[in-house]
Amino acid sequence: MRKEDVQKVLIPEDELKRICKKLGEQISRDYEGKNLLLVSVLKGAVVFLSDLLREITCDCRIDFMAVSSYSGTKSTGFVKFKKDLDISPEGCDILIVEDILDSGVTLAYLKNILADRNAASIRICALLDKPENRKADIKADYVGAVIPDEFVVGYGLDYDEKYRNLPYVGVLSPSVYEK
Ligand code: IMP
Ligand code: MG
Repeated sequence: MRKEDVQKVLIPEDELKRICKKLGEQISRDYEGKNLLLVSVLKGAVVFLSDLLREITCDCRIDFMAVSSYSGTKSTGFVKFKKDLDISPEGCDILIVEDILDSGVTLAYLKNILADRNAASIRICALLDKPENRKADIKADYVGAVIPDEFVVGYGLDYDEKYRNLPYVGVLSPSVYEK
């Protein structure tokens, strides 16, 4: 990647660390004595999950689902289901861990699927929230940061499967996708 591919750093590393610590404390308090199952959405949320997980002090398990709705920088509006859970969600207090809540179509779809499976509760934790672009009627119960409607990469988030390895969240320069 070229340095100029990222227009500006939106959330630096130390701020991401603070966000995970704060969310981890809140979640640990709220889920003490519960049957917490963190469900991460592949692949964008894995970096966030791995940092958040280490800030959670109550008993918990993790599992993964995979879906995709994006093509380039635009949501296709269709969600493709790619991988289901390994652990049965029955009786679990599910916390869906997502990288970003944008149109909300992906999370509304996942919540719907999980709603039919007798979980004790289902909540959502999103690192980033882009409320300006919301299409589905959905809110996150825990949010790391609210951001403007710009395409961001890094800290797990990709453009065309690239930039996930950046340690910060940055705005992708439009010159990358307007070529
Ligand atoms: P939604 O269904 O529109 O809410 O889209 C959610 C998914 O789209 C996220 O899990 C991301 O994978 C992807 N996404 C949305 N906005 C961005 C962005 O700014 N950068 C990278 N991926 C994004
Ligand atoms: Mg994602």
